Amino acid sequence: MTSLKGRDIISIRDLSKEEIELILSEADKMLPIAEGRETSEILRGKILATLFFEPSTRTRLSFETAMLRLGGGVIGFSTTEGTSVMKGESLSDTIKVVEGYADVIVIRHPYEGSAKLAAEVSAKPVINGGDGAGQHPTQTLLDLYTMKREAGGIDDKIIVLLGDLKYGRTVHSLSYALALFNTEIRLVSPPSLKMPEEIIRDLKELGAKVKEYTSLKEAIRGADILYVTRIQKERFPDPTEYIKVAGSYRIDLTILRDVKESLIIMHPLPRVDEIAPDVDKTKHAKYFIQSFYGVPVRMAILKLILVG
Ligand code: CP
Repeated sequence: MTSLKGRDIISIRDLSKEEIELILSEADKMLPIAEGRETSEILRGKILATLFFEPSTRTRLSFETAMLRLGGGVIGFSTTEGTSVMKGESLSDTIKVVEGYADVIVIRHPYEGSAKLAAEVSAKPVINGGDGAGQHPTQTLLDLYTMKREAGGIDDKIIVLLGDLKYGRTVHSLSYALALFNTEIRLVSPPSLKMPEEIIRDLKELGAKVKEYTSLKEAIRGADILYVTRIQKERFPDPTEYIKVAGSYRIDLTILRDVKESLIIMHPLPRVDEIAPDVDKTKHAKYFIQSFYGVPVRMAILKLILVG
């Protein structure tokens, strides 16, 4: 029997397909509570610490909403300003202190591997809320949930991943998860922002159908899901390299003329200029409901980790 009780979630690869499906079905049960139509006290007395060393709107606030909706409490910080990190406290010391204050820790940090380090020093479960260009596993779980609810499932879908596939942690995590399902993955990016070769190799070894495209028009032909990402400006070592690719792709009404009626457009958000605002009112746009689904999915994760 699958159990996530007491577990860390650092990479989507920590989870089996069965465990992913358990989280998604638990999220279905959480939906009425997430919408405020029902109440729950299942996590009463439990405390979540949100340690955000990098900016966030959705991940931090939806985790906090998830905990509060289930009757738990929240502590944490959204910036290191005002914390002892400014005095030079190390990440491992910060974690060792916070584990004494909370039952579960969510961490976002600019450096890849930081969540893994936190999990190694913490006796309490640690959830990766995004580590540099590494992984963002709970985003992947809400992405899969969105596909399940808004695209009618995950299996047998053609999914286009568009944008910054080099630095985008959401597409790194998501592509590994999609490889567990029967999907076709089409990759489209500016040439300098291609999916890392080692990830493509891993995906193929996992048996995924994955193909790189140079033409977005060609890639979205017959696709069921278009997953758009912004260019991760903050990860570029050289700002002039960012300027070269900024604004190099944009989804607008013209490009949507030739897509499947049922195509859904997803985006982890925030968006900059890669989806024109007038796409928002089309039936294809699912990115705002996607960000809401972060609440029931994170409720499910917290419940399964803290209660089982
Ligand atoms: N999708 C996502 O991680 O958004 P935030 O950076 O606002 O948390």
